[in-house]
Amino acid sequence: MKAGVQMGHNGNGKSGTHHITRSAWSGKMGFILAGAASAVGLGNLWRFPTLAAKYGGGMFIFTYFVLAFTFGISLLLLETALGRHTKLSVIGAYSKLNSRWKFVGVLAAAVPFIITPYYCIIGGWVTKYLCSYVAEGADAVAAEGFFTSFITDPAFTYVFMIVFMLLCIGVVALGVKNGIEKANMIMMPLLLVMAIGVAIFVLMQPGAVEGAAYYLIPDFSKFSPELVINALGQMFYSLSLAMGIMVTYGSYLDKKESLTQSVASIAGFDLLVSFLSGLMIVPAAFMALGLAEGGTMSAGPSLMFVTLPMVFEGMGGAATVIGIVFFVLVLFAAATSAISLIEACTSIIQDGTGWSRGKSLGLCAAFVIVAGCFINAGYNVLIWIEPLGPGTQLLDFFDFLSNSVMMPIVALLTCIFVGWIIKPKAIIDEVRASSKFSLAGPWTAMVKYIAPVLVVVILGWNIATQFGLL
Ligand code: PHE
Repeated sequence: MKAGVQMGHNGNGKSGTHHITRSAWSGKMGFILAGAASAVGLGNLWRFPTLAAKYGGGMFIFTYFVLAFTFGISLLLLETALGRHTKLSVIGAYSKLNSRWKFVGVLAAAVPFIITPYYCIIGGWVTKYLCSYVAEGADAVAAEGFFTSFITDPAFTYVFMIVFMLLCIGVVALGVKNGIEKANMIMMPLLLVMAIGVAIFVLMQPGAVEGAAYYLIPDFSKFSPELVINALGQMFYSLSLAMGIMVTYGSYLDKKESLTQSVASIAGFDLLVSFLSGLMIVPAAFMALGLAEGGTMSAGPSLMFVTLPMVFEGMGGAATVIGIVFFVLVLFAAATSAISLIEACTSIIQDGTGWSRGKSLGLCAAFVIVAGCFINAGYNVLIWIEPLGPGTQLLDFFDFLSNSVMMPIVALLTCIFVGWIIKPKAIIDEVRASSKFSLAGPWTAMVKYIAPVLVVVILGWNIATQFGLL
C-alpha cells in the first residue's frame, strides 16, 4: 500500500465490485481545507471582483452571500453526503444507488475531464507571469503586447502549461494525505495571508478609497434578475459544484466528521477569499481605468494579465514585489483547484477500472497533457477555429460547454435524483450520522423544488445569452 493511501475508516475499503484501497483524509480539517482549496481559484480572483464591480458592489456581494449560504451549501452538503454514503466517486455513487441513473454520474464525471486541461493552460500563464516578474521585473510585464505575444507564441505556452501540470500531478502522485493535504496545509494559509496583505497594500494607494467605496457600498438600483443569475452561476463554479469533485472528496471522509460544519466552513472560506479579491482588484482597476470604466472592467484574462500589471507598474519601487506576491497567490489558488480536478479524474478512473491509483493517475496525466496541448493549439496553430464566433478560441468553447451547459444539467439531474428518485431521507440520514441537522426540512424543499427551478433558469439564460437571444 502506498504511503498516504489507506483503507476507508468505515472498513469499506473495497469500493463497488472492484477491490481498490480507498484514500482517506486524516480528519475534518484536511477535508475542509481540500474543499476550500478546490473552491478558491481563478473564479474568486478574476470573476467575482468583475461581477461585483458590474452589479452594484455591495448589492452583488450581499446577494452572493445569501445564495451561497442557502442554495450553495445545500448542494455542497448533498454532494459530500452522497460521496460519503456510497464511498465511491461520482459514477459509482450514482450507479450504486440506482443503476438506471448511472448516466448522471457519467455526465458529472465528464466535467472535470473537460475543465482540467484548459484550467492548466491558464495555470501555465500564471506560472509564466510569476517567472517574468522574478526574472524581468514589473516594467517588462506591463509592456504593451506582453500578453498577446506570449499566448500566441507556440513554444512557451506549451512549456509553461506542462510545467504547471507536472507540479499538480506531482502533488496528486504523493497521495491524498501526503500530497494533497500537505500541499493545501501550506498553500491555503499562505494564500489567505497574501490576499490580506495585497488588499491592505492596494487600499493604501492614493485613489484606492474611491474604488473600495464603489465595491462595498450597495447600489440598490443595480438589483436585477440578471444580477441574481450571474451570482448563481458564479457560485456554482466557485464552489466546484456539479462535477463530482465534492462527491469524491466526501467519499474520503470519515463517518464521524460533521458534514454540516464542514460545508459551512468551505463556503465561508470561499466567500472570504472572493471578498478579499474584490478589495484588491476593484480599487486597483479604478486607479488604472478611472471611475467611468472601472465599473465595467472586463472579466478574465485582460484584467489579470494586462490591467493589473499596469496598475502594479504604477506603484513605483514596490511594483515587482507586489507583482510577485500577487502571482504567487494566484498560482496557489489555481494549483490547488487544478489538484482537486486531477484528483477527481484519477479517482473516477480508479473506481471505473479497478486499476491502482498510480496507473489511474498515469492515464489521467497523459490525457490532461494531450488535451491541454490540443486546446492550447487554439491560440496558435488552430487559431482559425472560432467555435463560438469571431475572436473565440477552443478554450472559450470548453469553458462554455462545461460551466454554462453541463454543470447546470448535472445539478438539475442531481437534485431530481436525490429529491425524487432515491428520496432525500438517504442523504439526511447520512448527514445525521455525524451531526444534528435541524434544517432538514428547508433543505429538502431546496433540493426538491427551489434548486431545480433556479438551475433551469441559469441554463436557459446561459444558452440564450451565448447565442445572442437575450
Ligand atoms: N472553483 C474554482 C474556481 O473558483 C474552479 C474550479 C472548477 C475548481 C472546477 C475545480 C473544479 O476557480
